[in-house]
Amino acid sequence: MSKQNYILGIETSCDETAAAVFDIKNRCVLSNVLYSQVQQHEKYGGVVPEIASRSQLEKIDGIISAALEQSKISFKDIDIIAVTNKPGLAGSLLVGLSFAKALAWAGNKKLIGINHLEGHIFSALLKSDGSFNEVVPFPHLCLSASGGHTALYLVKNFGEYELIASTIDDAAGEAFDKVAKMMGYDYPGGATIERLAQEVNFQDFCKFPRTKRNEIFFSFSGIKTAVLYNLVKRGVYDLAQGPLLAHLTDQVRHEVASSLLVCITDIFENNIKLALKQYPNVQGVTFVGGVACNKYMRERFAKMCQRNQKLFFAAPPNACTDNAAMIAFVASYKVAEGIYSELTLDVFE
Ligand code: KG4
Ligand code: ZN
Repeated sequence: MSKQNYILGIETSCDETAAAVFDIKNRCVLSNVLYSQVQQHEKYGGVVPEIASRSQLEKIDGIISAALEQSKISFKDIDIIAVTNKPGLAGSLLVGLSFAKALAWAGNKKLIGINHLEGHIFSALLKSDGSFNEVVPFPHLCLSASGGHTALYLVKNFGEYELIASTIDDAAGEAFDKVAKMMGYDYPGGATIERLAQEVNFQDFCKFPRTKRNEIFFSFSGIKTAVLYNLVKRGVYDLAQGPLLAHLTDQVRHEVASSLLVCITDIFENNIKLALKQYPNVQGVTFVGGVACNKYMRERFAKMCQRNQKLFFAAPPNACTDNAAMIAFVASYKVAEGIYSELTLDVFE
């Protein structure tokens, strides 16, 4: 039995500063604290790396202290510092990694570098109360979709997964964010697109092009361009000036948002169906990443899995967007295998 009891997880790969404490023996998250910089980036329509790393530096100390305080575990009782060291924005990652290394060195703790994408993949095994969801079966398919990545994985066991396919251009979340921006909305736009789509009952008005391939394949930049020219044709967007807000009616916004959501959901569903055929021994499907907050998509995938006699699990909303609980959780099974990092660990290593 391992003598390691508690993990402090740190996540600073993009525009969230997050820390969490994980109890190894009881397999549960004791605290999960997050500061989102979203308001600092919304007026730019996307994340500005320089602003992101400066903000990480300002917030990290307070966020880690809050995570320790909420967990009621003192720093001296933490055994392991787990930190995201790839992939992400270099400046943001460096803040978390440097902080983690300093804490590990000063407190004589073990250090583990965690891949952010592995964190997302296994976030489906966490329940919203932070406990471990032991009914998620292996092997399963994992659809991971956020503003930075979109990929489908075959997940064989803890830490054992292989990439089936990832987007060849934009991420799905990026498509939502960019289309929302084209219609004059702030970043991030995914939740706004879902709200507009729900108001018109998820109808497909525009029939944006689907990738009609008989292979597992993700691409979203073409849809973004199709939306752009749809808006230009309707006279509500100017390629030089951007959205012509005076002409952009509620009807156009609803039609575009709803059609976009249905289109991206169809593309996801088609890819999952193809993967289920290709990997008939998978027991279930998981859906993770910021886009997995989308209730319409969750419901569609749940129904599709039911029809195919597969289990379906979406990560709880507090584990969908970037968080440190998933980083600490991944570290817990690395600890069981004795996998640690050196203090010379670098970003992207
Ligand atoms: O995982 P995340 O917090 O950060 C990244 O690593 O990107 O994901 C944020 C992304 C954004 O693109 C946002 O628009 C999208 O997740 N998102 C949604 C919804 N809520 C957030 N996309 C679709 N529907 C939603 N309800
Ligand atoms: Zn992420």
